[in-house]
Amino acid sequence: MDQLLYINGKWTGENLDKITVYNPANRDVVGTVASATEQETQAAISAAEEAFSSWSRLAAYERSSYLEKLYTLMMEHKEELATIMTSEMGKPLKESLGEVQYAADFIKWYAEEGKRVYGRNIPASTSNKRLSVIKQPVGVVAAITPWNFPAAMITRKLGPALAAGCTVIVKPPKETPLTAVRLVELCEEAGFPKGVVNLLTGSSSLIAKELMGSTAVKKVTFTGSTEVGKMLIEQSAQTVKNVSMELGGHAPAIVLEDADLENAAKAVMASKFRNAGQTCICINRVYVKEEVYDTFTEMLAKETAKLTVGNGMKEGVDVGPIINEEGYEKVAKHVSSAIKQGATVLQGGEGEERDGGYFYQPTVLKDVNHDMLVMNEETFGPVLPVQKISSDEEGISLANTTPFGLAAYVFTESLSRGTAVVEGLDYGIVGWNDGAPSAAQAPFGGFKESGIGREGGIEGMEAYLETKYVSMQVK
Ligand code: SIN
Repeated sequence: MDQLLYINGKWTGENLDKITVYNPANRDVVGTVASATEQETQAAISAAEEAFSSWSRLAAYERSSYLEKLYTLMMEHKEELATIMTSEMGKPLKESLGEVQYAADFIKWYAEEGKRVYGRNIPASTSNKRLSVIKQPVGVVAAITPWNFPAAMITRKLGPALAAGCTVIVKPPKETPLTAVRLVELCEEAGFPKGVVNLLTGSSSLIAKELMGSTAVKKVTFTGSTEVGKMLIEQSAQTVKNVSMELGGHAPAIVLEDADLENAAKAVMASKFRNAGQTCICINRVYVKEEVYDTFTEMLAKETAKLTVGNGMKEGVDVGPIINEEGYEKVAKHVSSAIKQGATVLQGGEGEERDGGYFYQPTVLKDVNHDMLVMNEETFGPVLPVQKISSDEEGISLANTTPFGLAAYVFTESLSRGTAVVEGLDYGIVGWNDGAPSAAQAPFGGFKESGIGREGGIEGMEAYLETKYVSMQVK
């Protein structure tokens, strides 16, 4: 199906070039989207700017009711959204259904939270003054989103931005624009006034250049690679934009000898193989205390062997395809170079191109070390390297060695040791005996080169607000 751009409440761009969207499981064509030029991007900016003056002045309760409608529509179209997602992204249908619920949770949570954007009064130093702080929406927001979570990474931005009173231009990636199109159609059905939500599909560099150069766009919120995030930060300097950056990760997990190993193995597996390892917070390297190293790696290998790889539309599939050839080559390189440097394959270790899709076996590697690429770079694939450690401190130190600081995990039944590890980790998110820490109501984001700012929770709302201090002199 040919999909269009959504600008100022209208679907437009019939005559523009088209971008084809493929199913990564078999290269079937699943649709096309219009490719916006400078002209449409400027039109979307103007529409969002114009709509801002009225949207930002609505009562928070009114904005909330639009978001509530959107949530209801997302729930009514859950299966349909999930099917679109699996067909363009590849993740198993059961995961897509989970993601639609997760995505809708952001809309629901911020529909409620928008009513609680409070300012404050500050006692003055003299009796003739009244000091107060008010919160106002930042303005037009450019939301640039990734392919690995085609719905949730949009709503994690859209929910708080709209609730705060901002207007939004959504720019989804070329791999997964169709979920975004359907979400924006639901926004239209929910009745958002024209210009409040706009959608641009097409060349990321062309559209981003226009958005970043515009003085009307006050904020850019991006989820994606650290490399692109750095470019956007540089470009945002031209007009000193407010930025939120959710960038790359390389999540470590530390398993201490007193952990509940069965729970730890389940959590590590769920985190690692979610979305075929194409998740910023998925466990990418595991450090296990020497006392339980052999037992734990065997447990992981045994559980990993049970996973079924294939087309995400098929019943019983646990791990879908890698998004494209480039992603697949990176995974294959991480594994083959680790093997050359002495890693032992306990499970998997191979991939294949099948029916035009790129599939990699869920893989467990032991005897790995920090000279290997797989322990230093984000793999973004279903590979689990496991390294032996001899102390808690060694685990913390190795966990902190990379420039990334998004999510980390620790498994221990000891309150004292767990607390010390949590406090020693330079990470924005820590799962303690928990492989699935994400939640709409909690802050998500990283330290170091993993990003700037937080999404989710009250921090995620703050990201779309300006603080205005008012000092009033009275008689
Ligand atoms: C991501 O990969 O950035 C999203 C993962 C999540 O929200 O749990």
